[in-house]
Amino acid sequence: MLSLTALSISVQLHRNLYLSRLISCALLSLSQELMVGGHGIAFVLSSSMNLTQADPSQYFGLFNISTNGSPSSHLLAIELDTVKNAEFKDIDKNHVGIDENSLQSVDSASASYYSDKEGKNISLRILSGDPLQVWIDYENTLLNVTLAPLRNLKPSKPLLSRTINLTAIFPDRKTFVGFSAATGSLVSYQYILGWSFSRSRVSLQSIDISKLPTVPRPTKRKISYLLIVLLVILALIVMAAVVGGYYLYRRKIYAEVKEPWEKEYHPFRYSYESLYKATRGFNKKGLLGKGFFGEVYKGTLPLVGDIAVEILLNDATQGMKQLVAEVVKIGSLQHKNLVPLLGYCRRKGELLLVSKYMEGGSIDQYLFNSDKPPLPWSQRLAILKDIASALCYLHTGASQVVLHRDIKASNVMLDENLQGFLGDFRMAMFDDHGATFTSVVGTIGYMAFELTSTGASTRTDVYAFGVFILEVTCGRRPFDPEMPIEKRHLVKWVCECWRKGSLVDAIDTRLRGKFIQEEVDMVLKLGLLCTNIYPEFRPSMDIVVQYINKHQTLPDISVDTPGIGDSTPYFPHFR
Ligand SMILES: *[C@@H]1O[C@H](CO)[C@@H](O)[C@H](O)[C@H]1NC(C)=O
Ligand SMILES: *[C@@H]1O[C@H](CO)[C@@H](O)[C@H](O)[C@H]1NC(C)=O
Ligand SMILES: *[C@@H]1O[C@H](CO)[C@@H](O)[C@H](O)[C@H]1NC(C)=O
Ligand SMILES: *[C@@H]1O[C@H](CO)[C@@H](O)[C@H](O)[C@H]1NC(C)=O
Repeated sequence: MLSLTALSISVQLHRNLYLSRLISCALLSLSQELMVGGHGIAFVLSSSMNLTQADPSQYFGLFNISTNGSPSSHLLAIELDTVKNAEFKDIDKNHVGIDENSLQSVDSASASYYSDKEGKNISLRILSGDPLQVWIDYENTLLNVTLAPLRNLKPSKPLLSRTINLTAIFPDRKTFVGFSAATGSLVSYQYILGWSFSRSRVSLQSIDISKLPTVPRPTKRKISYLLIVLLVILALIVMAAVVGGYYLYRRKIYAEVKEPWEKEYHPFRYSYESLYKATRGFNKKGLLGKGFFGEVYKGTLPLVGDIAVEILLNDATQGMKQLVAEVVKIGSLQHKNLVPLLGYCRRKGELLLVSKYMEGGSIDQYLFNSDKPPLPWSQRLAILKDIASALCYLHTGASQVVLHRDIKASNVMLDENLQGFLGDFRMAMFDDHGATFTSVVGTIGYMAFELTSTGASTRTDVYAFGVFILEVTCGRRPFDPEMPIEKRHLVKWVCECWRKGSLVDAIDTRLRGKFIQEEVDMVLKLGLLCTNIYPEFRPSMDIVVQYINKHQTLPDISVDTPGIGDSTPYFPHFR
């Protein structure tokens, strides 16, 4: 229980008194939610400065039991009372009253203000904690008390308007002016944010609301600080969970296998994440093909452009080092007619090869699929020259001999200008190293018969190239079981036509006779020369390039030249 009274200004009473906008901030109760608190605050005129004998609580620090109601108190108070006190006939626990020498108000009203805008009274809660404005005007014995929320203009109608004879209360016409506030068993914080007092309307200073201090809200603050801290902690936990979850998710889907020895191959290594994004998560819409080794997806890498990503399933961890070295070696090869192998990536059980995407697809689609337009002869010859040049580079141009081991129509790619590119180096890479693939050394129909005995050499590549030449010129696969028996085996069939003196019969009918006879003759003979059953009779690739570019004429061969047109005895079902 406390009361605090501050009376400072001594006033010689005059006809008028103005207290403009005593900004009373509102009695802020300790327990905001219940809006209870005590007891209130009052604006006081008192003839005496000494109120030490007065009591707190309902006495407001202004009276005690014996002085209350006594005319000798010489005291006028305008109270903002937040307790309903039956003793003094209070109307409620949220009222404004005019006290003349007594706490039993001569006039009182529930806290409210007249809204000029809405034309009605709006009630206020003194204990809300929101600042209130109080105007106390005394003019010609009429005392007006007007309330309003902080930012409102002064209402046109006062809350209380009462005739008061100040001379009767203060006979010696002298008074002190100030405030008094009290708490009781109920406690509230009571603030005066600003006030202005004058004896004449003209000299009354106005109050700049923007410069008033803000209302301290201790209890609420503590709660909100705690709440903010809790919220921040919660937010951090949620964020950590999200980030952590995302990180784990990324780690799972972008997981790679990386070993220390790969450091030197760093420029050739692609992150799985970049490939995943480039192919939109290996979207089936981008699936280019599905083969024995794995799947090929189309993708787009920034700066690089369109790529083809081939996923090779490979569980062999042994030999991986040589395999990657092989990939990098082939990636370093540079020839205008080789499909650029850009790099690789490793995952558990997977090796991913990244190469440039070839717009035109593989040439076999043009040769054997009737839905694509047939390639004209000049185009075919140009592609044969391209591939001969690329293969020659592999055999002689690189720092060491590279065997392709799998030359065939489906491994010859075309760009948008239908230029030929030799692609698919899987055989070149895997033959010696990938344990999984050792049984596969090429494609049936393109394999020279000596492969199984003496193994791969530049001559076996030449053999396969010879088959490829015949394929491109004749527009059919090397072995076609649907054909009549004499036509099934392409090499034998071309030879047969030659024997009959009509090589033209072997030529792709889709060319509709539009070709240069002597070029076709030369190319077919070159094909037969390259597919000679005796490896030593096959020309090397640099010679093949000479022949096909007509820098050198073909040697004089005939159908009866040994080894020409013979089929491989190792694949009897081809006969
Ligand atoms: C009340 O206050 C007056 C002086 O203001 C003092 O003389 C008197 O003793 C007080 N009475 C009680 C009961 O405190
Ligand atoms: C007090 O209120 C009355 C009634 O609304 C009004 O006529 C009078 O002018 C007011 N006096 C002052 C000083 O505001
Ligand atoms: C508004 O309040 C005043 C003062 O309490 C009262 O005299 C008046 O009748 C009220 N007006 C309305 C519209 O309630
Ligand atoms: C005010 O009170 C004084 C002293 O009691 C008295 O002389 C005077 O006539 C009163 N004035 C009015 C207007 O009632």
